[in-house]
Amino acid sequence: MLGNFTYQNPTKIYFGKGALADLKEALKAYGKTVQLIYGGGSVKKNGIYDQVVSLLKESGKKIVEDGGVMPNPTVEKLYEGVKIARENEVDLLLAVGGGSVCDYAKAVSVSVYCDEDPWEKYFIRFEEPSCKLLPVGCVLTMVGTGSEMNGGSVITNHAQKLKIGHVFGSEVMPKFTVLDPEFTYTVPRRQMVAGIYDAFNHICEQYFSGTDDNVSDYLSEALMKSLIANSRVALKDPENYEARSNIMWAATWALNTLIAAGKSTDWEVHMLGQAVGAYTDATHGMTLSAVSLPYYRHILPYGLKKFRRFAVEVWKVEERGTDEEIAQSGLKALESWMRELGVAMGLKELGVSEEMIEGIADATLVMDGGYHVLTREEIVKILKESL
Ligand code: NZQ
Ligand code: ZN
Repeated sequence: MLGNFTYQNPTKIYFGKGALADLKEALKAYGKTVQLIYGGGSVKKNGIYDQVVSLLKESGKKIVEDGGVMPNPTVEKLYEGVKIARENEVDLLLAVGGGSVCDYAKAVSVSVYCDEDPWEKYFIRFEEPSCKLLPVGCVLTMVGTGSEMNGGSVITNHAQKLKIGHVFGSEVMPKFTVLDPEFTYTVPRRQMVAGIYDAFNHICEQYFSGTDDNVSDYLSEALMKSLIANSRVALKDPENYEARSNIMWAATWALNTLIAAGKSTDWEVHMLGQAVGAYTDATHGMTLSAVSLPYYRHILPYGLKKFRRFAVEVWKVEERGTDEEIAQSGLKALESWMRELGVAMGLKELGVSEEMIEGIADATLVMDGGYHVLTREEIVKILKESL
């Protein structure tokens, strides 16, 4: 392990069946006024909203409503949330939903006491917060992003055709998160598989970097194997608690900073996926699945040893043939699992047309922590191969 790092994760996790009851203990540390943040209504249909409201009332909290956070939250919604928090002098932002709701709560947190335009400050200039922050708590209802235990916040600006994430420091991570796997049973199958692929890709983004022997890579392999095995159970039996709980916990560890320790990390699949998201508003996990295989086939020669290891350790490919053949078999195994899941295998499925490719290429940020730094021509080529 050759890289230096600082590791701190302050998020307190309440995990398991009935874990929401612990919300009462968690709430004690915060003031009276709680901004209750949720999405388009799933939490009202499945009863989670009512359970949270009861606990807030029993805890003597004043509830300020902030519903309607859309998947891929927009900058306009962010401004609205900041206004609500300011007008009500909110003490705690409580996100009840998926990654979009949790990301949005973090963006509100860093913006309420900030005089500047948050889009410009955090998502264009990538500055760090220099103001008081509001604490964020989370009740997660959809698995995949890792937002429940990290500092990431992704905001979409449709007018500018940009979808940009800022990874804030530990002071912005949720102070606490409730993870009850049963809350994910009502997630539609398409969202469930998108979330599983998202979590898997988070691991890949960190795994496919570096050449040193690194604890993080062994941890990553274990997490990937757990996701593959449990996804197969959940596909057949979505209410299998053991599978859904393993998927939930693996997804949290896939992106809570641990497996990035000592690594440079890649994130180019996410940059391509986010650019696609800015143009299509498609489901995040599907934007990643659509571009993954062309990207990985393209960078395989530059990271051959790691792709060979991925094939052997994660997919149990037999060590026969050249390194290149073994590595390619690993990608074939990945492809066949993706088809089992039923994730998007091409950009056309997400509404991308040939004419959009140049614009999407312009919106793709280029990362330099992986095995190869892409040129613009290579980005266009990968996007065309992903159609
Ligand atoms: O809005 P509602 O009605 O609640 O419905 C949501 C939404 O339509 C539904 N849903 C969530 N929980 C449910 C449920 N439906 C039924 N039962 C439940 N229990 O699922 C849909 C998708 O929700 P969303 O929160 O958008 O999904 P996800 O968790 O995948 O979050 C996606 C956002 O997170 C960002 C993405 O870019 C995207 O904007 N990411 C955040 C990251 C981070 N913080 O580190 C990293 C990721 O790579 C990702 O970029
Ligand atoms: Zn992701």
